[in-house]
Amino acid sequence: MRASRDEPRTVPPLRPDASYLLTGGLGGLGLSLARWMVEQGARNLVLIGRGRPRPEAQETLRALEAAGARILVLQADVSKREDVRRTLEEAGRLAPLRGVVHAAGVLDDGVLLQQDWERFTRVLAPKVDGAWHLHELTQGGELDFFVLFSSAATLLGSPGQGSYAAANAFLDALAHHRRALGLPALSINWGPWAEVGMAAQLASRFQAQGIEAFSPDVALGAFGRALGHGQPQVTLMRVHWPRYLEQFPRGAAPTLLAELGGRPEAGSEAGERSSPELRRRLETAEPRQRLSLLMEHVQGEAVRVLGLDASSPLEPRQRLFEVGMDSLMALELRNRLQNTVGASLPSTLVFDYPTAEALASYLHDEVLGLRQQPGGSAPGEAEDSALQRIMELSQDELAASLEAKLSALMEEGS
Ligand SMILES: NC(=O)c1ccc[n+]([C@@H]2O[C@H](COP(=O)([O-])OP(=O)(O)OC[C@H]3O[C@@H](n4cnc5c(N)ncnc54)[C@H](OP(=O)(O)O)[C@@H]3O)[C@@H](O)[C@H]2O)c1
Repeated sequence: MRASRDEPRTVPPLRPDASYLLTGGLGGLGLSLARWMVEQGARNLVLIGRGRPRPEAQETLRALEAAGARILVLQADVSKREDVRRTLEEAGRLAPLRGVVHAAGVLDDGVLLQQDWERFTRVLAPKVDGAWHLHELTQGGELDFFVLFSSAATLLGSPGQGSYAAANAFLDALAHHRRALGLPALSINWGPWAEVGMAAQLASRFQAQGIEAFSPDVALGAFGRALGHGQPQVTLMRVHWPRYLEQFPRGAAPTLLAELGGRPEAGSEAGERSSPELRRRLETAEPRQRLSLLMEHVQGEAVRVLGLDASSPLEPRQRLFEVGMDSLMALELRNRLQNTVGASLPSTLVFDYPTAEALASYLHDEVLGLRQQPGGSAPGEAEDSALQRIMELSQDELAASLEAKLSALMEEGS
């Protein structure tokens, strides 16, 4: 049975007399999903990956078989058409194929300058080529669902994940294309999962951005509801929008997200800088306290980005790259500091100033211009007060002062 274009579909319970294909089925999410599908009544699953199942995967597979399911594990590369054709034939021999979940994917994160064609295509192959082969080669069948595991990175952007975002954007577009053809399709823009899968180690980093990871149970419950929802594209993620928006300078957050976060962006000029809390604290602090205030601030932001325990702060001279910072985190730290000091900072910031101490000094001296002059005033203060005195002069006083200055200069020159 095929869905018509706008008709909401209800997914029938998973059938014991059908087979279901899970690409990436031996990965973190794939195995959780396999367990869930068996709990929901599926009895014939085909799981594919390029490699063989790891020992923990084998244990899960044995448990599923003990629960009465037939599990066919195939070594197949979904980006290769012949492998997909062979997989579909094998699935059909087990029982008529009624559902596909395409969860195969790889990460190869890196900032744009580190990317090359080979890295780009490695990330695109399982998603773009794989999804297309599945789309084309299943068209003769009677699918109840065709689900694509996409990512929230496509919607929100994610530092260093340009290739990954592009690959997943293809899945979203394919889901809409299939619906336009009257074929079942659902692309899920997943936020991060905890405990299992490719994002499990990054939970604290996401948390610092206001994004909470799903426990697998909650995620699978949401998956079941999304299947029955009837939309071609659904986003499943847990975001604390006000915290998420803290990473953008005021006026620079996408309008839709700013509205979700309840932040009034309207009326503020694009790129306009706020008067951040930190700057206010610096303005009211004693000049000699400002550097330590900045140091504390930099240490706090670095600890947050690194996902370290806030109760054990970083040593001022500890090199950030030695305590786990990578190039993506360095960008994130730069973005956070840029936002809180309210000034543009170079993307190489953490490479140029690799310790909290060096960063704090740079912000203090070069960015905020707070370095004390021998006379006690910070640079800029002397110019400001001279300008103030000039502004207070009348036209006649200004003309007389200029004339005196010119005469003095001419005398010096003669
Ligand atoms: N984990 C998350 O929080 C999260 C969030 C958003 C979206 N997603 C998406 O959800 C999907 C599953 O993620 P995961 O966390 O479970 O990742 P994972 O644990 O790394 O599993 C991905 C699986 O895909 C398989 N795979 C990769 N390329 C393949 C290919 N060409 N052909 C066949 N299999 C291939 C891998 O096995 P082999 O290397 O052996 O082939 C691996 O078992 C991915 O598409 C990911 O983009 C995950």
